[in-house]
Parts: sequence; structure tokens; C-alpha cells
Amino acid sequence: MGQYASRNDAQELAMQQVYMEKAAFYVAELKRQLGRQPLCCVTTFGCQMNARDSEKLLGILTRIGYAATTEEKEADFVIYNTCTVRDNANQRVYGRLGFLNSMKRNKPHLKVALCGCMMQERSVIEKITKSYRFVDLIFGTHNIFKFAQLLVTMFENHEMIIDIWQETDQIVEELPVNRKYSYKSGINIMFGCNNFCSYCIVPYVRGRERSRDPKEIIQEIEHLVTDGVVEVMLLGQNVNSYGKNLEDPITFAKLLQEVEQIEGLRRIRFMTSHPKDLSDELIDVMKQSKKICRHLHLPVQAGSDRILQAMNRHYTKAQYLALVDKIRTAMPDIALTTDIIVGFPGETIKDVEETIDVVRKVQYDNAFTFIYSKRTGTPAAAMEDQVPEAVVHEGFDKLLKVVQETAKERAALLQGKVMEALVEEVNEQDASLMTGRLSNNMLVHFPASESLIGQLVQVSLDECHGFYYTGHIVK
Ligand code: SAH
Ligand code: SF4
Ligand code: F3S
Repeated sequence: MGQYASRNDAQELAMQQVYMEKAAFYVAELKRQLGRQPLCCVTTFGCQMNARDSEKLLGILTRIGYAATTEEKEADFVIYNTCTVRDNANQRVYGRLGFLNSMKRNKPHLKVALCGCMMQERSVIEKITKSYRFVDLIFGTHNIFKFAQLLVTMFENHEMIIDIWQETDQIVEELPVNRKYSYKSGINIMFGCNNFCSYCIVPYVRGRERSRDPKEIIQEIEHLVTDGVVEVMLLGQNVNSYGKNLEDPITFAKLLQEVEQIEGLRRIRFMTSHPKDLSDELIDVMKQSKKICRHLHLPVQAGSDRILQAMNRHYTKAQYLALVDKIRTAMPDIALTTDIIVGFPGETIKDVEETIDVVRKVQYDNAFTFIYSKRTGTPAAAMEDQVPEAVVHEGFDKLLKVVQETAKERAALLQGKVMEALVEEVNEQDASLMTGRLSNNMLVHFPASESLIGQLVQVSLDECHGFYYTGHIVK
């Protein structure tokens, strides 16, 4: 599924194409030695942006002659695209690296690469250079477009190659991309983040906010649609501030209106919205739209004003609730989801009660609840009153119960309705069923043929099973 992103830094692109040819030569040589096609395995940790980056990595790897496998054991090239938003993501990477080390002892030609957000942290690089000497290639989030060139350097050298940039203003697209799904795709509309929420490491590892030119975004989506895509997800850490720093500033709502015009495109999603920047214009555009899905992910993080302020979120509980009210008044059928952190420094059970109150009032369709993870270098890590584990767990368990109750209640409201679903894949448990996604992001399983994948069908939601439905196609 070769696909080209929009045109951009032409000179850099031409150079990378030369490196792809050169890398292909080394992979062909490996193929001759092995007597079979070399296999590569790309493992992704973290968010949608990393998932999109991984499609780019795989695009280059397949272009230079590797075949993709999801079986790490079989691979001749393994790359981890890492996340560092919470410490457990880092621990998973270290755990798996231990396993890769033993794999490499039995398979000396195996190449191991690491990239992504975790690699932008100096302490991580120190640890890997000291304790994981077998890693062949390390790069970060800013120079992923140089992947072909880095591969060539890796093939031509025997020591560990490390290339980490602190920042970049370059946006190089138009390199090969190997999409995971034929019918839907993520699109980066912006990179980085300027919000500096006090707990969050993303601004440090992804750099300052940079928006892509709207024309390039539209062109990329047009190409995707020609290639069979019916649903796009516009990606950015805070899509509501899209376009503010462009030479010709444009709002996110305007961009959405332009995307809406693309013929053949059926559904538009986006992630993530910061409540402080969500405009009336956006609500209005969503309301009028026939293609923008009835789902908004609106991270609240906490319900206590004191904690929200310490988090540097720039809104109060009352402002957030008023915003939700405005959204629900405009679009009563919209599904709202959120992210919540429990255990931020100084947070008491009373503060968590405020968060629970928000959940009760908003009635989220789903909420991702996280235990606060201390990230070195962020302001919150230096705060004195880190919360004892027992207190965190008490609050977390209480919150989770309410989140699950309200989500169940919300889900049950759709019983018996007929709604449009995008047929996505064969059901994992029962191959006679297909899994579809509703506009509000809920899943429904129904008997259908695999040939419907990528099509929009009308489904009757017959039985609610907590967070998903079973149903049948209505002719
Ligand atoms: N840009 C997005 C979110 C990116 S990270 C936004 O602002 O909504 C995804 C989620 O991880 C965040 O919404 C937050 O809930 C959580 N998160 C970020 N840093 C965290 C930390 N240090 N500990 C626990 N959860 C964290
Ligand atoms: Fe992190 Fe806040 Fe930026 Fe989201 S908006 S990536 S939580 S700093
Ligand atoms: Fe993780 Fe980086 Fe995304 S830290 S959440 S992969 S931007």
C-alpha cells in the first residue's frame, strides 16, 4: 500500500531517496546470505502519533526490501518506536530489550534499532549506551525522516549509531508510508506541543508546536482517498491551536471545513482537543458537518481547581463543565471521552472527589484513567508533596468505579437504534462476525462478509454488552 504524503522539503527528500537505494543494496546482500527475504518487525508504544510514525518506518523498510512480520522472533531487523509519557512505558521497553539481547546472541546478523520519544531523554541514552551495548541504531523524534540514511550508516558501521536532535523546524513528508489499514489513516496536522502541562514530558521530547501547511494536508488526504481511505484522523497534541503560527494563520475549524469538501472522504476524526482552546467556531463547524464524527476526546485531567492550576491546564472545573454543556446543547448525540490523572502532587481524596463529580456530571462515554507518573525534568517532578501510593490507589479505585458505571449507562442508551458503522475487521473471537465502528467510536459486532471491510453499513444495535454492541446489518 505505497502512499505518498504531501510535497515538502524537496532537496532533503531527494537525498533520502538516494539513501533508500543504497540501503536496498545492503538488504539485497543480506537476502543473498540468508537465502530468503529478510524480515523486519516494527513495535509501537504510545499514542496515535507514534503509530503514524511507525507506518513511515515500515514504509521505508519495505521499500528497501524487507518484508514485514509481527513475530519479533522471526525478524532480522527489530525497531521499537518508544513512548515515555509514563514510566511503565519505559519499563516495558527495557524488559523487552533484555529478551532481544538473548535473541541477538543466537542470531548475530539481527539488527536492533530504537527511536521515538524515550530516546529524546539524555538519561535513557546513558542507560542504553551503558547497559544495552548490543543496540545498533538509536534516533529520536525530530529526524525520523532520515531513517533511510541512518540505516545505511548502520549497515556500514559496527558500533552503535546514535543520532538525536534537540529540535527541528523541518517537516519532510512524501516518503513512503506503509498503512496499517486500507480504509482509514492518521494524518499529522501538527507536531510538538507548547502547553507545558506541569506533569507532562511531551513538550520536551516532541519539541515546539509546528503546524503543517493546510494545502499539503488537503493534498495528502486527497491522495489517501484515491487510495481507498474513507476515514481520516487528524493528529496533533492540541489540534485546537492548529494554524496559529503559520505564515497565513488559519483556524482548526477552517481546516476541518476544507477537509470536509474532499470528495469520497466519508468520515473525519481528530485528536486531541485541549479544553482551553476549543472554540465556538469549532462547535459550530462540527454541528453543521456531515462527515465529522460525533465524538470528542476532551481530556479533563482533574476536577479540583487547585490541582488544575498546579497542572497548568488554564481552565477551572466550572469552565470545563460549561464547555461540555455548550457542546452537548449543540450536539446532544455526541460521545465525550477524556483522560484523567490521579495522584498529581498534592492531590487529596477530596480533590479526587471533585474529579468524580465531573465524571458524574459529564457522563463520559469512556475515560482513560492514569496514575500520575513522575517525569524527570517536568515542573511537577520537583514538587514536594508527592502523593503516597496507598492514597493514590484509594482515589484511583473510587474513580474507576464511577467511570465504568457512567460509561455503561451511556452505552445502554443506544439500544435498538440503527446507526452507521464502518466495517473494520473480522471479529477476533468469532470469525463469522465483523467488527464495525460507529461515528461515536463505539464498536459493534455483527454477522457479515469480510468483503465489506472499509464500507459503511447501517447496523441495528440489538444487544448492549457493557461497552460494545452486537447487532445485525439492516438492508
Ligand atoms: N496532548 C494530549 C495528551 C497527550 S498524553 C492532551 O493534552 O490531551 C496522553 C495522556 O497521558 C494525557 O492526557 C494525560 O492524561 C496522560 N499523562 C501525561 N503525562 C502523564 C504523567 N506524567 N503521568 C500520568 N499520566 C500522564
Ligand atoms: Fe502534554 Fe499538556 Fe501538551 Fe497534552 S497539552 S501533550 S498533556 S503538555
Ligand atoms: Fe508517548 Fe510520545 Fe505519544 S511520549 S504519548 S509516544 S508523543
